[in-house]
Amino acid sequence: MPYDTQIRNGKIVTATDTYSADIAIAGGKIIAIARDLPAEGARRTIDAAGRMVMPGGIDVHTHLDMPFGGTTSSDDFETGTRAAAWGGTTTLVDFAIQYHGQTLRQAFDTWMKKAENKATIDYAFHCIVTEFSDAHAKEMKALVSEGVTSFKLFMAYPGVFLLDDATIFRAMSAAADTGALICLHAENGGAIDVIVQRALAEGKRAPKYHALTRPTVAEAEATGRAIALAEMAGAPVYIVHLSCSQALDRVREARERGLPVFAETCPQYLFLSLENIDVPGFEGAKYVFSPPVREKWNQEKLWHGLAQDDLQVVSTDHCPFCFKEQKEMGKNDFTKIPNGGPGVEHRLSLTYSGGVHGGHFSPNRFVQLVATAPAKLFGLYPRKGTIAVGSDADLVIFDPEAESVLSAKTHHMNVDYSMFEGMRVKGVPRTVLSRGEVILDDGEFLGRPGRGSFLRRQTHGTL
Ligand code: URP
Ligand code: ZN
Ligand code: ZN
Repeated sequence: MPYDTQIRNGKIVTATDTYSADIAIAGGKIIAIARDLPAEGARRTIDAAGRMVMPGGIDVHTHLDMPFGGTTSSDDFETGTRAAAWGGTTTLVDFAIQYHGQTLRQAFDTWMKKAENKATIDYAFHCIVTEFSDAHAKEMKALVSEGVTSFKLFMAYPGVFLLDDATIFRAMSAAADTGALICLHAENGGAIDVIVQRALAEGKRAPKYHALTRPTVAEAEATGRAIALAEMAGAPVYIVHLSCSQALDRVREARERGLPVFAETCPQYLFLSLENIDVPGFEGAKYVFSPPVREKWNQEKLWHGLAQDDLQVVSTDHCPFCFKEQKEMGKNDFTKIPNGGPGVEHRLSLTYSGGVHGGHFSPNRFVQLVATAPAKLFGLYPRKGTIAVGSDADLVIFDPEAESVLSAKTHHMNVDYSMFEGMRVKGVPRTVLSRGEVILDDGEFLGRPGRGSFLRRQTHGTL
């Protein structure tokens, strides 16, 4: 049978298996996996000798072209998806925001227009809910049938995104009826706001006060409350960007009780700490995001959580703002620093480097965390997130021994700094295929804006 492309001599690594085989691709799909496939008939052959062949990464938490904190995140769907591809991510799930007074559909339509003709890789949307009436419950059902099957609610950012418990509970109850998955930003925004106002009154204005006014207990309390509300509603819940041991304890306890509770963490919580934000001058603004950086000892707990399946996913919460002009909006007041940091490009390298080379988990668990579990939880599996006959040929040829130094001088994100400046990582994506098309090949980007497709997702699956 003629193929478009064949990947030969690689070591296939999925969430469950590691084996040597060749992969044949036609029409953007994997059509055969076998030892020593006949070479003739393939238009293109890629030699993956000495390298891992893994499913394309799936980042289920990005904010591209997102108005926030008086400005807009600096990567749009063109630059953000291109940077993702450089890092071995072939699918993004971004957030469409329902602003006050808007329908959920308006949010979806707005973000579809932002992505159209720009995305280089495939993409889908969660919807951020800021109001939830009976009419919105009907809309939730309609959106689920159109492939928007997860919704993010906030317990933080009073006056902007924060929802009260009754509204969260109503949305969770509707999700239980429709099969939608509710994602929670779990921080007690009301209490944090009081602590912030006290700090400002005491003249505490430097970036580090962003972290010092958002205690771990505020995250743990909200995480526990989110889980309790979901339990009452009979709905599963997914805790986004979990940052600390105390919140992780709430997730672990719930999972031990058998509740359908899931959580992600992000590289910034695995590699950065209060030491990064507590520096002289304004430099700490580079590390202002929410939840904030924590005391360093939390990192080991998070790695352990990823290894033990207390945490199921590594996403990035990519929400870049340039240091010049954007972060600088908060030069004299930490509350005016736009919250968010860049990370979409380096998720695979950081997770492999710290997780596999750091001795925390196997290459299979790495694949599970960055591709398979996100695909399953967010209704993309088995089209995405694995290497199987019939799946999209979204593949990464990954060199597990290659090293690279992360820097704003060399990255492809549209932002003027790196949160991981100077960090050496081991494990580098070399060649990236999206639906069978080579979009990155040994340092050359071959994708093009607009080739990415919107993905209608199924409702969440189990792991
Ligand atoms: O600081 C952050 N995390 N910015 C992005 C918005 C959010 O809360 O995820
Ligand atoms: Zn959030
Ligand atoms: Zn976010």
